[in-house]
Amino acid sequence: MKPKSKVLIIAGSDSSGGAGIQADIKTVTCLGSYAMTAVTALTSQNTTGVLSIIPVTPKEISNQIEFTSLDIKPDAIKIGMLHSEEIMKSVLNSLNKIKITKIILDPVMVAKSGTRLIDNKSVKILKSHLIKKVSLITPNIPEAELITKVKIKNVNDMILASKQLLKLGAKNVLLKGGHLRATTLQDVFLNKKEIKIFKKKKINSKNTHGTGCTLSSAIATYYSCGKTLKKSCEMAINYVNLAISTGPNFGKGHGPINHLNTIKINKKFK
Ligand SMILES: Nc1ncnc2c1ncn2[C@@H]1O[C@H](COP(=O)(O)OP(=O)(O)OP(=O)(O)O)[C@@H](O)[C@H]1O
Ligand SMILES: [Mg+2]
Repeated sequence: MKPKSKVLIIAGSDSSGGAGIQADIKTVTCLGSYAMTAVTALTSQNTTGVLSIIPVTPKEISNQIEFTSLDIKPDAIKIGMLHSEEIMKSVLNSLNKIKITKIILDPVMVAKSGTRLIDNKSVKILKSHLIKKVSLITPNIPEAELITKVKIKNVNDMILASKQLLKLGAKNVLLKGGHLRATTLQDVFLNKKEIKIFKKKKINSKNTHGTGCTLSSAIATYYSCGKTLKKSCEMAINYVNLAISTGPNFGKGHGPINHLNTIKINKKFK
């Protein structure tokens, strides 16, 4: 088959392959599209933790975005963690130049462990500029709390926080419910016209490394192929759900999910 669309991913590298740009490339590829990248940082990590991080300079990130897009025009862009004010400004500047309208922002700010990953100045730029530039923002609960200051304890609070994000200029919001203690997980999709709550039974697994990265890349891929944002979210949630439930159980810590769940390998190679 030939790729159905082209997706540019702006995110950091995860050497363990479960999250970050590696998860993004696998997702875009396994869903049938062509992946391009602008690497924002190099991390040395495995399923038990992060050993070191080396940031890429803002100029080099912009070069990757602009020079790549000049030659092969992306149909959609997925943005992952932008860890400093300078990088955010640089990415914004590049986005203004390349004029791609379908942009999914995963505003990575808080790690699974609860650690804050970006400083206050970056949060400020995200709230004042980046949020208005993108088609959809996909915060998890701690990130939505940090941006809106709404304390989230249940799905009503999630709707309230999502409405605050619209007030800040977001066009569409998918607030992910993975962090609420519940047997049913609820992800809230919301814009000025509609609210849709996607419900899934929580899968009891320690191997959920990269669910957020995978979800936003899957949304970007479906959206780049012409699906509506709501439909893209629904299909991406189903893809992540199957990826968690068929996880390969690699590593001693929080292992990866199974991006290959869409792929059928020719019997000759089995
Ligand atoms: N145990 C689980 N069972 C089923 N679905 C899950 C589980 N954990 C997360 N999800 C789903 O995975 C998606 C990502 O949600 P989550 O809240 O984990 O994002 P995140 O915190 O940004 O992830 P990450 O830690 O990778 O950045 C959502 O659709 C969520 O409902
Ligand atoms: Mg996340």
